[in-house]
Amino acid sequence: MPDFSASPLVEQLEENLFSALEKLAAQIASSERTLIDLSSGSPHQPTPPAVVAALQVAAVQPGNHDYPSFWGKPALREAIAHFYQRQYGVRLDPEREIAVFHGAHIAVGGLPRALLHPGQYLISTDPCYPVYRSAALQAQARFYGIPLDAARQFQPDFSCVPEEVARNAGLLMLNYPHNPTGALATSALFDDALAFVKHWHIPLVHDFAYAAIGSHAGEQPLSLLSRPEASEWGVEIYTLSKTFLMAGWRFGFAAGNASMIAAFKKLHTHSYSTVFGAVQDAAIAALQLPAQEMAQLVAVYHQRRRRVLDALDAMHWPVEPHQGTFFLWLPVPAGFSAQQLTEHLLYQAQVLVAPGHGFGPGGEGYIRLSLTADDDNLAEALKRIAALKLFS
Ligand SMILES: Cc1ncc(COP(=O)(O)O)c(C=O)c1O
Repeated sequence: MPDFSASPLVEQLEENLFSALEKLAAQIASSERTLIDLSSGSPHQPTPPAVVAALQVAAVQPGNHDYPSFWGKPALREAIAHFYQRQYGVRLDPEREIAVFHGAHIAVGGLPRALLHPGQYLISTDPCYPVYRSAALQAQARFYGIPLDAARQFQPDFSCVPEEVARNAGLLMLNYPHNPTGALATSALFDDALAFVKHWHIPLVHDFAYAAIGSHAGEQPLSLLSRPEASEWGVEIYTLSKTFLMAGWRFGFAAGNASMIAAFKKLHTHSYSTVFGAVQDAAIAALQLPAQEMAQLVAVYHQRRRRVLDALDAMHWPVEPHQGTFFLWLPVPAGFSAQQLTEHLLYQAQVLVAPGHGFGPGGEGYIRLSLTADDDNLAEALKRIAALKLFS
């Protein structure tokens, strides 16, 4: 059988951090040790029954068995507009300001390809969700990560961006609540970002993947689009994966500046095609769930965060308690690199975490721990980690 070489583009891509971790987990699991995986970002909770029921009804409707429209059903785009109005007080034009697709990953990769010119910079943060770096590469662009610092609560300082980078920038891409640091956006952060993109005349993309998961119950993370003029300069990506426990369903949307949405939609018709009509109907059911019910879906992460923070405190692990997303970003103890601590936890405690440097060089010195494992596994993992006496 001939062994074909991959394209230069694929050769340049690093292995996806999470596919590498999945392989590692499988290796350890097959050597018959009970591995507890705290590296993953899948909610591991059932999708709300009303959404599953909507899919069941929609799946048997013949209208959903044809090719769907490239633009998504009008009722779905209306539901998205209502959802943004209800949650964030933001008005959107369902025709021109909304695009739908198979999960945020599609837009995270697709928006840079739709907007960047070869050689331009995609500016984001360091550390960041790893796909932003490969998205720049796939767009033939260069990546610049604004270094994030715990002393600034991981808020980017736009005045640090070198002038050469800013002058040649084609896109600013942010993500708050921030994966992996858990930092939450302040209105000052978004206003600074908007001032930066206006000054350099570049578009802004905000990946709002953890829109529903602040640092405690009742804290609603800030939407970029709720800031003045934001929908003129930017687009926000939203996913149903985390908010509505629908990771396997692959549904997301982007909303904001009409020219950015149009460029992305054009690329989308060529690269990714359409979303199954029944998934669109189920997405409408999810977006129409009462806000209170939505909050209950993610309440479990707040309870777990509290318990994990208490357990880490008992180990004398110094952790910033005000973190959103369903991860915790933990500094490694003295004497360990992120990789060394990850291996120590893996081989001595059979607990898999994500090493910070997998999110960029700025993640060195940290590990990311997920709150998506069930309560028993989380408790057992913490017991095993405590036994290692990392801080005594
Ligand atoms: C910051 C961030 N953006 C995007 C995604 C992808 O989300 P989706 O499931 O909608 O593809 C994730 C998933 O973990 C994420 O953490």
